[in-house]
Amino acid sequence: SKTILTDDFGRKHNYLRISLLEKCNLRCTYCMPADGIALSPKASLMTSEEIFAIAQTFVENGVDKIRLTGGEPLLRKDFAEIVSKLSTLEVSLSITTNGILIDRHIDVLKQAEIKKINLSLDTLIASKFHSITLRNQFEKVIDNLHLLLNHDFQVKVNVVLMKGFNDNEIIDFVNLTESLPIAVRFIEFMPFAGNEWDRSKMVSQKEILSQVEENFSLDEIQKLEDEKNFTARTYKIKGFQGDFGIISSITNPFCDGCNRIRLTANGKIKNCLFSNSETDLLTAFRNGESITELISASVKSKKKVRSGMVTISEMDDPNLHFDNRSMIAIGG
Ligand code: GTP
Ligand code: 5AD
Ligand code: SF4
Repeated sequence: SKTILTDDFGRKHNYLRISLLEKCNLRCTYCMPADGIALSPKASLMTSEEIFAIAQTFVENGVDKIRLTGGEPLLRKDFAEIVSKLSTLEVSLSITTNGILIDRHIDVLKQAEIKKINLSLDTLIASKFHSITLRNQFEKVIDNLHLLLNHDFQVKVNVVLMKGFNDNEIIDFVNLTESLPIAVRFIEFMPFAGNEWDRSKMVSQKEILSQVEENFSLDEIQKLEDEKNFTARTYKIKGFQGDFGIISSITNPFCDGCNRIRLTANGKIKNCLFSNSETDLLTAFRNGESITELISASVKSKKKVRSGMVTISEMDDPNLHFDNRSMIAIGG
């Protein structure tokens, strides 16, 4: 039945995020712990056939949107095969990428009818790009952003804000939307294992909006209608081609409209970005067992807000310890 993806709060999960691998060609400090992570053995990662078969079960139960993440999804050697299989399903297919390998994949993306790409880019300054990603790939990413736009992809640019690092670029990013038809999304820095989060490093929705209001007049700032099941609350500067949004998972969560379920590269369901209890689908699948009951049980145990994670005021506790998977192994 189609109800296995509906949780106890009536939320229907029609959006599946699949992480293809745990490796990345960048080292963003907010995502990958400085010491790296213990990678899953290759044999425990889903193969392209397994990804397809498991995704198909989700689609049969109501999923109509699939996003591929990583690590960096374009590092999967069999990426072309994976997307060409998934594109046969009745879903809108998209990816979240750091953009480095985009130029080598334009044809593959077109063939799979992928129209929307979310690109991570946290700064518009080359030297700062290196200090956050520990790699010198700024020009490549910028070139590939333009390449995507020239090929008529709809591009969202994800900007994780960190105080003292890139909060002085908020207006530069908004100004980028004057001439580029992109959707910039400012993201509140979120805590995961090993990313040295603390609340003082986070730039809040309130602070972002107040910077925008200092630089543009109130009648220039237009509130847009948010997407269904949004992560970002969206705005536009009148007359600009693109728009911008704020993903405020910490100070203003959007869990009421959550339609997202995650599958890790090693085949475990996470019913929330912040949940620690995972459900191993892949082992069951490999043993020839039915996975629908497992999916259903995972969805039914989903909590109302942020997997019951502490509230914003409790986040000031210096002894607070986040033992959720690192972001690199979730995929956002
Ligand atoms: P769209 O499908 O274009 O709306 O993309 P998205 O925002 O769902 O996904 P993307 O991979 O671009 O993620 C952008 C940011 O939103 C990342 O920081 C994600 O961690 C965060 N994000 C995505 N989905 C969720 C979610 O379900 N809950 C929370 N709290 N954050 C999310
Ligand atoms: N907090 C908020 N967003 C994050 N991302 C990665 N790590 C974090 C974090 N700690 C975002 C990146 C990427 C998306 C998938 O997740 O911007 O684009
Ligand atoms: Fe959904 Fe969890 Fe994100 Fe809230 S924090 S929107 S419940 S995934």
